[in-house]
Formats: sequence, structure tokens, C-alpha cells
Amino acid sequence: MLTREENELLCRVEGDAPMGQIFRRHWLPALLSEEVPEPDCDPVRVKLLGENLVAFRDTDGRIGLIQEACPHRGASLFFGRNEESGIRCLYHGWKFDAEGQCVDMASEPAESSFCDKVKIKSYPVVETGGFIWTYMGPAETMPEFSPPVWQPSPETNVVTTKVIVDANWAQMLEGSIDSAHSSSLHSSDMVPARVPGAQSTVTQWQRPSTDKSPRMVVQRTSYGFRYSAIRRPIKDAATHDYVRTTLFVAPYIVHIPPNNLHRSCTVHVPRDDGSTTFYFVAFGSDTVPAQEDWRKLHSNRVGIDLDETYRNTRTAANNYRQDRKAMKLGNFTGMPGITNQDISMWESMGPIVDRTHDRLGASDLAIVEFRKQMVEAAHTVAAGGPAIGTSEPRVPLSALQSFEGIVPKSSDWRTLGATETEIEIAARQAKAGGSQAAAE
Ligand code: FES
Ligand SMILES: [Fe+2]
Repeated sequence: MLTREENELLCRVEGDAPMGQIFRRHWLPALLSEEVPEPDCDPVRVKLLGENLVAFRDTDGRIGLIQEACPHRGASLFFGRNEESGIRCLYHGWKFDAEGQCVDMASEPAESSFCDKVKIKSYPVVETGGFIWTYMGPAETMPEFSPPVWQPSPETNVVTTKVIVDANWAQMLEGSIDSAHSSSLHSSDMVPARVPGAQSTVTQWQRPSTDKSPRMVVQRTSYGFRYSAIRRPIKDAATHDYVRTTLFVAPYIVHIPPNNLHRSCTVHVPRDDGSTTFYFVAFGSDTVPAQEDWRKLHSNRVGIDLDETYRNTRTAANNYRQDRKAMKLGNFTGMPGITNQDISMWESMGPIVDRTHDRLGASDLAIVEFRKQMVEAAHTVAAGGPAIGTSEPRVPLSALQSFEGIVPKSSDWRTLGATETEIEIAARQAKAGGSQAAAE
């Protein structure tokens, strides 16, 4: 449970809200490259941290991410003409380049220098691995862009779903770090099997355990926390554990356990207080599924399951087209697609779930730690301190790794899958005064 004030601190990201300020100290995925595929293509609306923006790729291929409202009299630049290295407002013809500089004012006298004096809000962008990233904080705290968790090398194969969800980022992130729910909500898609470790097939994920109530352990780290769900394996249960380790990379990424084909991250980027852009990323080598297969697995194909603005056609209004007949025949949810199942639960909680009277159990340990850590982080920023995940020494995001496997019971879950860089930095921090507080 949280107090009403703590819940507000955890969830609110618009305006000066401390949590929004934390997000503004990190590079954020703003949109996918596929949304602006070529020079002078259609502009797209982007909403981030309560701000309405427009993204466009200009004639020279440069990406602009600028305020949506034209500074003249407020018409939307989304409807503008994207041509000849800028976007032109339809209303009176003012034109802006990718940096937000006004470059032409059709409505003003030719000799006027007014145009030079008008510059609108624009955010810096970096395009890599199919994502367009932005930084929305003060220039003096802007960190150098570094590759995300899902791009340890430029050669890494990366595919992703994208869907806009009408729910606050924090309740979605809590779903992503909630290892226990997969044994229920996703039980028709993630099935127990006598396999050596988590396996992915075209239609389902298999795992070597029938244990529905994992033992949870969590340890705070410099980037967030690492936690493991420890289950009884189908084979060798007397001597071995089935360990699935998830990383919370504050403030918005969850690195979930891998399977035989790929590693995965879920990404929760707040659009505003009540809605979030959700990306489900799979990455790795040649065995990563093709983009369309990955989206099909999650029932998140653009033009089939989603409209062209990445909004789900299954919504609260049509009860996510839940198929009760399929449920009678054995499907657990009557809803296809792992992500769809999650979305129906996240949205059903209301745009911002009331945490003042929820009832958490032993399997909610990671959720308790997430709330504690992020409410503390919001207090720190509100008091003028650094944003979580921005202080040195830091583990490079691309050096983080989740884990899954059947291991001897004597194994130390804290180091399973951790790279040498992470172990070395954790040891240094522990020596320096224990920022590595265990929350087990
Ligand atoms: S409102 Fe955009 S040019 Fe007038
Ligand atoms: Fe889920």
C-alpha cells in the first residue's frame, strides 16, 4: 500500500512532477524509425510526458521533434506540409526546420526580420536500431547518448512491438516485473514442458516448471534492482532450482529473462499521466524472430490488430473481444497475444490505479521494492538531488543481462547472468558504503 501522496509521486509525470523530472534526465524512445520512413514523409504526432509534439523527417533525412502547436496562433503543425527542409503550418504558412527555427513567414512583409526571432521548442534526437530517441531535460544535465540495454552491439538484431496503452506507466511497469502473473494470465501461451530451459516457438513460450508460486528475492543495484523468481523445476527438483532473473533498469525499462532464441525488454514511456507507449523488444543474434512474426505472437500487428497510430483495436469498450467460448474450451483468458492480455489487465485497473488499499502478498516483493525505490527517487529529485540511474559509477546499459536457467541450489542468484562489469561495479559500490542494499 502507498499513501495517496506517495501514489501521486510515483505516477505523475506531467509538468514539474518529480517523476517527470526523473524521466527528463534520461534519453527516451520517442517513436520508431518506421513511423517516419523516408525524407518528406507524413509527419506524426508524438506525446511524451504530457507534451504534444510532432515528429518529421525532412528533405535531408534529419528528424525534427518539435512542439505541435504553431507559435503564431496555435494551429497544429501535424497538418503541415513537410517539404523543402521544413514543416509549414497550413494556417498562415509559417515554416520551421528540424531544430524548430522559423525559416519562412509567408504572412509577414518580405523585409521583416521577425522570422529570425521565432524559434519553437524542439528536442535533440538520436536515431539508432529502429528507434528515435530524445532527451527532454535541461541541456546542462544531458548525458551522452549510450546504447540501450537491447543494443549491446551495432550488429544486434532488434525487433519490437509498439502499442499505446491507456494506463499509467507505473502500473504497467509493475506488471512487467511481476513474475508470478505469467503462470496465470499467460498460462495458455507460456506452458510448462520438459525442456532444459525457456524455449520459444512460433505460437508459445515453454518453461521447465509447473510451480505457480515462486519464491522471490530482490537486490538493489546502481541502475534499479535485480530480482529472481525461484521455482521448482520439473526435473531434479531436490537438487536444483529454476531461476528467472529480471532487471529493473530505472526509470522505465525491464529486462526480462531470456529464452533459447532471444533476450527481451519491456519499455514503458509515459505519454501523459494516464497513458503510456509500450514497446516489447526482442534482441539477440540470427535466431531473433522476424518483426512481423514477433508482432503476430503478441497480436500487435499494425493494420491488423492495431490501427496505423499503434492503438489497439481490442479496447475496454469492446471488452478486448474476449472469447468466452474459447475459455470454455481451455484457453485461460479468451484473449490472443501475451501483450493484449497484459493490456486488458493494466487498463482495467483504471488510468491511475489507487494503491492506498491494495493487498500485496509474498509474490509481490519486486513490486514493493519498485514502489519504495521510485518514491524515494522522486523525493530525492524533489529535494534537488540526482535522478535515479544518473550517478557514477554506472553499469553501461548494454552490459546488463537478465538470466534464466536450472541451477544447483547452492548457486548465488545475485550473480547469475551478471556481466563482469556489473559484478565489478557492484563490488566497488559495496566497498564504498553499501549503495548495494539488499532488500531480500
Ligand atoms: S497558426 Fe500557424 S502560421 Fe498561423
Ligand atoms: Fe505479462
